[in-house]
Amino acid sequence: MTPDLMRDGAARRAAYEARMAAKRAAEGPPRGGFGRPLERLEPVFTQGVALYVEDLTVSFDGFKALNALSLTVDLGELRCIIGPNGAGKTTMMDCITGKTQPDAGRLSFGSNVDLLRLAEPQIAQIGIGRKFQKPTVYEQLTVFENLELSLKADRRPRANLFARLSAEQLDRLGELLALIHLKEHAQRTAGLLSHGQKQWLEIGMLLAQDPKLLLLDEPVAGMTDEETERTGELFLSLEGRHSLVVVEHDMAFVEQLTQGRRKVTCLHEGRVLAEGRLADLQADERVVEVYLGR
Ligand SMILES: Nc1ncnc2c1ncn2[C@@H]1O[C@H](COP(=O)(O)OP(=O)(O)OP(=O)(O)O)[C@@H](O)[C@H]1O
Ligand SMILES: [Mg+2]
Repeated sequence: MTPDLMRDGAARRAAYEARMAAKRAAEGPPRGGFGRPLERLEPVFTQGVALYVEDLTVSFDGFKALNALSLTVDLGELRCIIGPNGAGKTTMMDCITGKTQPDAGRLSFGSNVDLLRLAEPQIAQIGIGRKFQKPTVYEQLTVFENLELSLKADRRPRANLFARLSAEQLDRLGELLALIHLKEHAQRTAGLLSHGQKQWLEIGMLLAQDPKLLLLDEPVAGMTDEETERTGELFLSLEGRHSLVVVEHDMAFVEQLTQGRRKVTCLHEGRVLAEGRLADLQADERVVEVYLGR
């Protein structure tokens, strides 16, 4: 990179940081979901709501990837998000996890934690886990070792990577292995697992951190039909204990997850186009036109 380009980049970054600092100063003390004041970092879920997304707007060079997006996800809810390519689904997850800073709007975890004030690691720390499309496991380690590392790096402040697993952690590891269908493969090197099994292992590693909210972006892409169905069963079994937000284009999978009754949200052009049961969305002309009819 030439020195003038580097200077330009540094100037742009400084201008961005100054703009964000001014914005924070203008906003005054942080506010939570629906304007409630924020006090502690520990989320409080008094209204049965895990996540508030309010008027979230993200622009990339003037193009609005999110355009005043608003939605809420309940505690323990399993919510599917659908919508055409470019609707803003991944961008929404990027905002929730602190990877992308929105231009406007609010994001609150529980009624009190302002996610826009936290950095990515803090967001993971307070209980929001994210699964990317490509599995990211330690390929050289065994399935057991991968889970062991995640358990030891749990969210408690005094977690110790070098300590032996406690009896309680060993029990939890066994539970996780059963849950992700990898009990028989515990001593296998992760690099030798199938694509679907690696995805399950990564989900297990996320669950080891006991997140309150789990974001899953196209989790069954590239899986066989059988793996997809098993993944659906796994997600259904997590409902209640975790809130799950699942972005997916595979409608058979969405059908399996919603079983005719759970709420589905369809995004389009950076906002909610329709929300309701899958059957209602399938009968909604606007949803058919921009997405399901294609
Ligand atoms: N870093 C970025 N810079 C510029 N434009 C971006 C960036 N990230 C996303 N976009 C644009 O924002 C829009 C929303 O993208 P996003 O990835 O959120 O869509 P999506 O709903 O996840 O789509 P898909 O179903 O294809 O995954 C797209 O038009 C995309 O090109
Ligand atoms: Mg996406």
